[in-house]
Amino acid sequence: MVPDIDQICQEALAAIKAVSDLQTLEELRVRYAGRRSQMRQILGGIGDLPPDERRSVGQAAGKAQKDIEAALAQCQAQLELELESGDTLDVTLPGRPPRRGQPHPLSATADELVDALRHMGFAVADGPEVEDEYHNFDALNTPSDHPSRDLHDTFYLTDGQLLRTQTSTVQIRVMETQPPPVRVISMGRVYRNETVDATHHMIFHQIEGLYVDTDVSLADLKGTLTALARHVLGPDTQIRIRPHFFPFTEPSVEYDFSCTICQQRGEVGGHRCRVCKGTGWIEIGGAGMVDPNVFRNVGYDDEKFSGFAFGIGVDRIAMIRHGIDDIRLFLESDMRFTRQFHGD
Ligand code: DAH
Repeated sequence: MVPDIDQICQEALAAIKAVSDLQTLEELRVRYAGRRSQMRQILGGIGDLPPDERRSVGQAAGKAQKDIEAALAQCQAQLELELESGDTLDVTLPGRPPRRGQPHPLSATADELVDALRHMGFAVADGPEVEDEYHNFDALNTPSDHPSRDLHDTFYLTDGQLLRTQTSTVQIRVMETQPPPVRVISMGRVYRNETVDATHHMIFHQIEGLYVDTDVSLADLKGTLTALARHVLGPDTQIRIRPHFFPFTEPSVEYDFSCTICQQRGEVGGHRCRVCKGTGWIEIGGAGMVDPNVFRNVGYDDEKFSGFAFGIGVDRIAMIRHGIDDIRLFLESDMRFTRQFHGD
């Protein structure tokens, strides 16, 4: 009786398809196409068959033999190609440990600032990046002809909304929803239509702080900022405040931290200090006593309560701490940059 040619052929083709190494392929070649293979035996025994079966069995077995040989050749070529291109799995190689994820230098700096402020009793609040003019400007006592509303500074969206230009918006959102006393910070992205260069970006990060209670004074603000400066830049850090103007604070100040790169000498190794530009001070942000108009806008009693507010440029502090001289690097997602801060 003639074995089922078709079944043998299917079995051979399936086995060849499943092969993933040359040695097993060689074993299959012997089994399905070797001299002692079933197919060869069928072909060799054709003469013993009744004459009316010879032709059809011969044709079927011949075709099956060809198909098997073609599959063997194709499989061999494929495996050799994989070997050449190194595309195979060499289980004897040592494994590659997966890289550990680490915080981005900006996140690490922000986390540290937020942590320091939380230890001083500030709660953390959040606000939207897509804002309305009311929270970004009006409620913050910024008149409609104020230059910062200009199209050149603010990204306006088509539906009348805008991308917030400052995290001071969160002051308003918090005071709208809770009565005094308030001690809150908020950290996040802000957007300004700036020409991007090494020290300016249209996307940067701020931390906003707000403290409202009875009898809050400028001395409390100075104490808070001093404690913060010493926490992030070391115990010898000094702060200074300079008069300035912001619509939502009165009086308003800008504040600087003493330069920890040159220790306020203004020079490093005979060269002018690049971080403080030789002045010994680094500009960090703006602050002041909350303007009574802002309190009135949110329904707080401006006779009873006083408060201070401050903004911190997070990118600036991260740049100082890590000696980074180009703000654009923060948002480029270039792993060669971010990996430098983690030693991995
Ligand atoms: N929002 C200000 C800016 O982006 C920074 C600022 C100044 C925040 C004074 C304040 C403040 O809370 O009181 O330039």
